[in-house]
Amino acid sequence: MFEKTLVIIKPDGIERGLASQIISRIESAGLNISEQKDIYITTEQAERLYAEHKGQPYFEKIVEYIMSGMVKVMIVDGEGAVLKMRSLMGPTDPQKAPAGTIRGDLKFDNPDKKVIKNTIHGSDSVDSALREIRIFFE
Ligand code: TYD
Ligand code: MG
Repeated sequence: MFEKTLVIIKPDGIERGLASQIISRIESAGLNISEQKDIYITTEQAERLYAEHKGQPYFEKIVEYIMSGMVKVMIVDGEGAVLKMRSLMGPTDPQKAPAGTIRGDLKFDNPDKKVIKNTIHGSDSVDSALREIRIFFE
């Protein structure tokens, strides 16, 4: 199925100059970036993005992390885009992400063990994608 998904290159990815490498991985997988912009995420946008995590011990930390620097938000589309992006990214914890995945290959040492910093966000379902795209694109 043709799908759209929301992808965010998080502050650590922008700060370490990894955006173009990440974009070429996405395009090499046959996916298309239909919209993109560089922004600082607001508190309201961050809390909406992570609404399902409200009440978790790491909630404030992930809101703070995604707001800690510039990010690149993108709408990525193509055949099976949601799952394709999730497999390009690899699992949530970069320490468990295999080589060949974005999170695995681009992991870095994060001394703060209360939050997972994993360089990239991708929606987990078609429904989540529609909800998340509305937060950042009109
Ligand atoms: P989640 O949606 O579970 O992961 P994913 O990004 O793979 O869809 O969690 C959202 C973000 O919250 C995740 O990218 C990293 C962070 N996080 C933590 O800091 N600690 C945790 O225990 C979990 C589950 C997530
Ligand atoms: Mg998620």
